[in-house]
Amino acid sequence: MSYKEGMLLPDALKEQTIVVTGGGTGLGKSMAAYFSELGANLVITSRRIEILEETAKEIIESTGNPVHCTACDIRNYEQVERVMNEAKEEFGKIDVLLNNAAGNFVSPTERLSHRAFDTVVDIVLRGSYNFTLAVGKNWIENKQSGNILNIVTTYAWTGSGYVVPSACAKSGVLAMTKSLAVEWAKYGIRSNAIAPGPFPTEGAWSRLLPGSLEKKYDPAKSVPVGRVGSHQELANLAAYLVSDYSAYINGEVVTIDGGEWLHGAGSFNRLEAIPEELWDAMETARSKKKGSKA
Ligand code: HXC
Ligand code: NAP
Repeated sequence: MSYKEGMLLPDALKEQTIVVTGGGTGLGKSMAAYFSELGANLVITSRRIEILEETAKEIIESTGNPVHCTACDIRNYEQVERVMNEAKEEFGKIDVLLNNAAGNFVSPTERLSHRAFDTVVDIVLRGSYNFTLAVGKNWIENKQSGNILNIVTTYAWTGSGYVVPSACAKSGVLAMTKSLAVEWAKYGIRSNAIAPGPFPTEGAWSRLLPGSLEKKYDPAKSVPVGRVGSHQELANLAAYLVSDYSAYINGEVVTIDGGEWLHGAGSFNRLEAIPEELWDAMETARSKKKGSKA
């Protein structure tokens, strides 16, 4: 048994239709592939149809379950509604919405144009509320229950320099998660989020550790458990949260980061840099002082 293996019972998501935004690459692809392995019907969407088609082919070959792929810019509400209608035509209904698509890059904030700021906020926040509103209204109109899972980040609550548009947008998504968990529970709609720490993906690494940054800054070094995340452990958590096993979890944000954000938060955590010999020397000095007082 290992965190690199699937965790849920086979067929845990059988006959569930799950829409995954940004499902052609990275973490979206890994979560989608595991949902399919557990029996789900998938709808994956992002801007690049050729990437989606490759991913769909790969998943279908591996699991034998259906994957519908369709291009959409989640910033555009009409395109989002079209994806929702296609999903319903293909599979009859949508059961789960996974808001995973995002845009991000590192930059000192004063170097950003207002268009650059808009770009990230529009993909992350507008894209997530566009899908939530379209699918949520449809569930309510049809008196159908539903389940929303949003992917945020740990800096959604702490904020972070150098990724300020992303931090603003992810905290908006976090607020939406918690607000709708209460407001829409009466319609049988749950709303939860996952806050991942560093999980290697081409999309994130190329934008957050561009150029020589990847060599200079090893993300695993700031994680107390000493490693970056494995896609399967995130997929296990996501599958649990979108399944009926988690029916009593609503409005929760589950952090999966090996303790990374707390490592940055604890005032004295940096003392881990102190070698054992220095602790020994301090202890000896303290004992001597105590001895001289007696
Ligand atoms: C400063 C930048 C920039 C950069 C783009 N812009 N990249 N500014 N630094 N690195 C500016 C442009 O100059 C332009 O402003 C405006 O942003 C829009 O740029 P476009 O290239 O036209 O945007 P678009 O084609 O829509 O692409 C969006 C994108 C791109 C966000 C810029 O990187 C993308 O498609 N990303 C999707 C995938 C992604 O980002 N994945 C990583 C998620 S990782 P001007 O003023 O010139 O018009 C993540 C992890 C979080 O979220 C937590 C980790 C621990
Ligand atoms: P990724 O592979 O770059 O995923 C981002 C996805 O969003 C891509 O598939 C992209 O596809 C899609 N997308 C971007 N703009 C879009 C738009 N306007 N319309 C539709 N789709 C769009 O990066 P990732 O690392 O897997 O990130 C997935 C999620 O995890 C994101 O929410 C990210 O913030 C979160 N996260 C990641 C990490 C990490 O360490 N990797 C840590 C914390 C949180 P197209 O380019 O084809 O549109």
